[in-house]
This record gives sequence, C-alpha cells and structure tokens, in this order.
Amino acid sequence: MSIKDKVDLQNLPEHVAIIMDGNGRWAKGLGKLRIFGHQNGVSAVREAMEGAVELGIPYLTLYAFSSENWNRPKLEVLALMELLVSTLNKEIKTFQDNGIRLQTIGDIEKLPKNCQSKLAETIALTANNTACVLTLALSYSSQKEIVDATKRICQQVIDGKMSIDQIDEQVISNNLYTADMPNPDLLIRTSGEQRISNYLLWQIAYAELSFLSKMWPEFTREDLFECIYNYQQRERRFGKTSEQL
Ligand code: IPE
Ligand code: IPE
Ligand code: MG
Repeated sequence: MSIKDKVDLQNLPEHVAIIMDGNGRWAKGLGKLRIFGHQNGVSAVREAMEGAVELGIPYLTLYAFSSENWNRPKLEVLALMELLVSTLNKEIKTFQDNGIRLQTIGDIEKLPKNCQSKLAETIALTANNTACVLTLALSYSSQKEIVDATKRICQQVIDGKMSIDQIDEQVISNNLYTADMPNPDLLIRTSGEQRISNYLLWQIAYAELSFLSKMWPEFTREDLFECIYNYQQRERRFGKTSEQL
C-alpha cells in the first residue's frame, strides 16, 4: 500500500502552508552555489503543487521570499527574482494542466517590475482555474501584514464605518491579505529548522505543525502525502477534551 492510498480523502486539510527551506544548505552539501539549490527547488514546488491537486487540497500556500530575505547578498536576491520569472514562464503549463489558480500575498510592489508584470500576467491567465488556489508569499512578513490590517481597521473607525467595540477576531482576519482563504490546517517546514520565520502568524493559531529534516529540493509529493497522513493521525481538540469530540 502506497502512502497515498493511506491518506483519508474525507479528512483532508483544506489549506496546507509550506516553508520551503534548505535550498542553500542542499547546494552547499554538493559543493555548489546557493542558487543551484534554488533552481533545484523548483521541481519540489511542482511536486507539492501536483501532489496537492492529486489529493484535492483546495489551498496551497508557499513561502517563496520573506521581507527579511531582502537582506541577503544582492546577487542571490537578483537570481531569486530571475528564477521567479523563468519559473512562472515554465510552470504556466503545470498551472493550466492541473487547474491551479495563482495569487500572491506580500509587498508585491517591492519586487522588480518584470516580476510584477509576469505575476500579474500569470494570475490573469489562471484566474478561471478551480482545482487549487496556489498562493505565493513574496516579500512577505506576517507582522507587516498585521500592521497593515491594523491601519486599515483604524481608518475604518476614523471614517465612522466601524466602532472600536466591533473589532473582533473576524474583523482582523477579514483585513489580512488572506481574507478570502481558510486558515492553514497544516504547516510544513523542510530543512530541520523548527521556527516560523514571520509566516502567517495569526492564521496558524490552530494549525498542525510538521517539521521535516529533508532539504527543500529533496521534497516530493510522497513527503506531502506522508505529512498529510501524519496530520490525520492527530487529534485536533481546539481546546476541548478528547471525550468532547
Ligand atoms: C529557502 O532556502 C529559500 C528561500 C528562503 C528563498 P534557503 O535559501 O533559506 O536555504 P538555507 O536555509 O540557507 O539552506
Ligand atoms: C524562510 O526561510 C523564508 C522562506 C522560506 C522564503 P529563511 O531561510 O529565510 O528563514 P530563517 O531566516 O532561517 O528563519
Ligand atoms: Mg533558510
């Protein structure tokens, strides 16, 4: 029995979020440049996307570039931006063949203009796809997202559209970049690091966490299936007792 056959299709996570980490270390281990790791991470992205569609997971969110990643060496940043454009060019077929709709979260206006236009073009081309929403977190900071939401809510109060008493968890959620998505049920991080690195802090309040020691370029759809199988063995209690479920 393959790992995929063990997955219960009636109990799938609705939203899987992934921190794709370890490209640099993987490349270094082979005596190559970091960018070689990023380039080889693209096939793992395809594995994750196709694996998600194979099972029928409606939302997949990938951390591709954090706000903090702008502090990396200029050449690496440039190479990552170029890789983004060439990957979108190459993977448009994967998106269309699998019914994947692309969207982004993060400060997209900070990206080079050619990245912005390639993203806009791909988003438009995939707008009618319905199998899976692929969200790329680019120049993304969860804390900045919460700051932005706070500013928007303050403005609504100043404009008299809302009272302070009306601000609750739902209002905050509705003002995040992820307003139209369910919260992640499962968060996966590769590379052995066990940290969140400013990713979806509000949204993962009740996510199950899965830390893999594999580096991102080594990630396959079977790893995704295994993470989902493990997720299904857990009891999500949301504060209740086991007996109450
Ligand atoms: C993840 O791999 C990709 C990005 C953050 C863009 P890293 O580049 O962080 O690889 P390591 O963690 O240095 O090995
Ligand atoms: C997190 O990885 C960001 C992405 C995967 C895009 P990093 O490699 O930048 O995280 P830290 O800085 O080691 O926590
Ligand atoms: Mg890293």
